[in-house]
Amino acid sequence: MQAVAQDEFWNDLYSKATPTSSGKPGMALAQFAGPLVAGAALELGCAKGDDAVWLAGRGFKVTAVDISSVALEYAAENARRAGVAERMRFEVHDLAISFPEDDYDLVTASFLHSPHDWPRTRVLARAASVVRPGGHLLIVEHGSYAPWSWSSNETPPPTAEETFRAMDIVAHDWQRNCVCQIERVAKGPGGQTALVKDNIIFLQRIG
Ligand SMILES: C[S@@+](CC[C@H](N)C(=O)[O-])C[C@H]1O[C@@H](n2cnc3c(N)ncnc32)[C@H](O)[C@@H]1O
Repeated sequence: MQAVAQDEFWNDLYSKATPTSSGKPGMALAQFAGPLVAGAALELGCAKGDDAVWLAGRGFKVTAVDISSVALEYAAENARRAGVAERMRFEVHDLAISFPEDDYDLVTASFLHSPHDWPRTRVLARAASVVRPGGHLLIVEHGSYAPWSWSSNETPPPTAEETFRAMDIVAHDWQRNCVCQIERVAKGPGGQTALVKDNIIFLQRIG
């Protein structure tokens, strides 16, 4: 899919969505990042800000990034409503082209998937490069697709191990806290549910 510019595609999608968010973090973020000490966090592909607002509520200073300015307007409003706006900044980036400055104690990317051709693995490797020594990287991605997804299980997604290897980061610089798969009940746009698998890549930088 390339006919529509990627920012237009996502802005159009979010313009048709309700601005308010669930206010709840993703299951894997809560599970893996919940025990971490607060610091500087970067969230890539933050959408309406559920995860970023949750991190700010736990004391993190959060930089929240998305390609969609519409999504970021929603996220900023949701941050104001949650009373955490002063701990958050919002930056529009097409991560294939530009990336936030600085380095971070926690970098998260949850379901940073796109129907477009884009250098996702290179972006994830870049995400790893801005984790401070001692900091964490959490990538959550589809391990299977819900029936309403734009992707089909006929072409299975890569495993967590395959994504980790494709990122081509220096393995001995990282402690592999979890390169694994978990299950989750996903809720579809019409309220339907399905059991899906999520791949987790949760690393701590030791080098
Ligand atoms: C499938 S949604 C996932 C949203 C959210 N993180 C979650 O867990 O539900 C993917 C998000 O990545 C953003 N995105 C897609 N391509 C991007 C790119 N090239 N640069 C930055 N953000 C992008 C989209 O706008 C969208 O908000």
